[in-house]
Amino acid sequence: MKIRRCAVLWLEPREVAHFELDALLAGGTGVVSAIQWFAHAPQLAAPLEIEAPIAEALGTLGPSEWVEAASWRVDGDAFAELLAHGIVVSDDAGHSDQREVDDRYREQRWHGLASVWHAASRWSGLDAAGEVAEAGVNTSAGLRDAHGVPPPALHERGDATQRIALARVSRTPLDDLFDARTTCRNFDTGSLVPQAQFAQLLERVFGARGGVEAADDFEVLKKTSPSGGALHPTEAYLIVQRVEGIAPGLYHYRAGDHALQPLAPVDDLARFAWVAVAGQRWFADAHVLVVLAPRFHRNFWKYRNHAKAYRVTILDVGHLSQTLLLSATELGLGAFVTAAINEADIEEAFGLTSFVDGPLAVCGFGIRADTMVTSEFDPNGNVWPR
Ligand SMILES: Cc1cc2nc3c(=O)[nH]c(=O)nc-3n(C[C@H](O)[C@H](O)[C@H](O)COP(=O)(O)O)c2cc1C
Repeated sequence: MKIRRCAVLWLEPREVAHFELDALLAGGTGVVSAIQWFAHAPQLAAPLEIEAPIAEALGTLGPSEWVEAASWRVDGDAFAELLAHGIVVSDDAGHSDQREVDDRYREQRWHGLASVWHAASRWSGLDAAGEVAEAGVNTSAGLRDAHGVPPPALHERGDATQRIALARVSRTPLDDLFDARTTCRNFDTGSLVPQAQFAQLLERVFGARGGVEAADDFEVLKKTSPSGGALHPTEAYLIVQRVEGIAPGLYHYRAGDHALQPLAPVDDLARFAWVAVAGQRWFADAHVLVVLAPRFHRNFWKYRNHAKAYRVTILDVGHLSQTLLLSATELGLGAFVTAAINEADIEEAFGLTSFVDGPLAVCGFGIRADTMVTSEFDPNGNVWPR
């Protein structure tokens, strides 16, 4: 059997604290720190705890050249565990699943560190809202108590005497639109979004406004948001909860023909929405949630193994979210964006693969409630009271 290391591997020497009674009896706090090694790889659901000799041995195995397994110094249970997790891949038919995952990862053309970061930032089943509330850092006052004074809101640079005062130009309707945008945390769960507004919003944010054939089989689309390399890699996956004439469920928005593709249903849609936004019930109530999931290779095809490419996909998602928020505001709807999401649960429900087309953010929109239960940031009273 021949083996090689998976394409990307980061070995982390992590300081972990544990409790030891002997240390307490010796007069200390009982908390003892030790270094524990963890293997991170983009295809892993979670980093794998490994022993120090295994970490050292992994440092001798390359990701390109295939070597005889018998010539490597790790065997037995530790070797089996590395093969089972795909940290070491082999040409043996018994490990073909792991090899296929590694091959698929290689085809994406990720920058290695970016893919490790992408994997490390994924959550599964986390009630982040609950944790924040429990820690008492869900209010400005709680944050101030926990972390002290934040860096100032306005940043001063240089010599004040050399400043050049700028003209204040009169407002236009665009200013009114900007000022009416306020992250919505209060949706009316008893109403339906009109289908026409739902369709208009999706088309404006994700639809193509034009395009050119850059070459045979290479179409470049024009959309309302900018996109690195004009590649527009981000797909919209929908959790539709309350839209006139559309059955609640999961959908993929087909931008090309402006249509919804129904996907396999989940058992409890409201619960799934809550899990998707990591326990933020104020967002889970939205009439429509939109998962923004780039097809990474659409960008990495051009920016191959590029140090900036993952950053560009994140920026693309940020632009789409602002376009969505402003488009919703113009229709009189409330909207939000959040990156506090359970990526692993979303991927499972929509049939996505983290390093192929994993979600980076979730937006949502819908009809605002009449009363504010969860606080919103509206210092100029543009939205509240209703
Ligand atoms: C990338 C991003 C992530 C955000 N994540 C959350 C979130 O997890 N939960 C939340 O309640 N608001 C979230 N927000 C909304 C911000 O809290 C909000 O934009 C900010 O308080 C300013 O309020 P405004 O959007 O009404 O101007 C997020 C905003 C952005 C841009």
